[in-house]
Amino acid sequence: MRIDVFTLVPHAFAWLTEQQPLAGVLGTELELRLVNYRETTPLRGGQVDDEPYGGGAGMVLRVDVVAAALDAVYGDARPSRVIALTPQGRPLTQPVVEELAAEDELTLLSSRFEGFDERIVEHLCSDAISVGPYVLSNGDLPAMVLLDAVARRLPGALAAGSGELESFSAELDGGLEYPHYTRPAEFRGWKVPDILLSGDHARIEAWRRERVR
Ligand SMILES: C[S@@+](CC[C@H](N)C(=O)[O-])C[C@H]1O[C@@H](n2cnc3c(N)ncnc32)[C@H](O)[C@@H]1O
Repeated sequence: MRIDVFTLVPHAFAWLTEQQPLAGVLGTELELRLVNYRETTPLRGGQVDDEPYGGGAGMVLRVDVVAAALDAVYGDARPSRVIALTPQGRPLTQPVVEELAAEDELTLLSSRFEGFDERIVEHLCSDAISVGPYVLSNGDLPAMVLLDAVARRLPGALAAGSGELESFSAELDGGLEYPHYTRPAEFRGWKVPDILLSGDHARIEAWRRERVR
């Protein structure tokens, strides 16, 4: 799979690419390209934004700047999934993550300031995705959230078996996972449920299933 992220701060992704699961699939299951809008902007001085028509606070990411960046990378071979990260988008849920992880190519567009010129979303994108009903300062954190969630679903990203039985998975009927405990068995009088120490795998399984919410 290839994911291209268009951003104003490619270096912000350095941390993420050093972490698992991304680090484990980069160069094998995942090719990640980070594209800086400023490198291809047709405007002078690296300008990428402008004042909003109709007035108001803040600056808006320009449509000609984003179009130039997409042209520089893809030419006429436009990818089918170009996703704007925006609070107005479709909520990112685990089913959406599964859908995206099944693609061969994804293009993510991050914005800053007041956001995208609406023509970017309307004419240059196939989708718009929100990571939640709150406003962040930029689309880079949402892009990283999406990248991490998708990378977990790629072959070899996780230890065998650990990606199937998780919160929101089909294995748990989309529910929330049961609680986990590890050593010590007792700490400050807080005990691990006896059943988990019993070695009775059938009863442990039943106990866990009862706790899926
Ligand atoms: C400060 S926000 C713009 C908020 C916009 N003026 C509004 O009120 O909806 C700047 C950028 O951060 C990104 N962003 C902020 N919150 C987001 C969210 N919940 N999901 C996805 N992207 C988000 C988007 O790329 C957005 O254009």
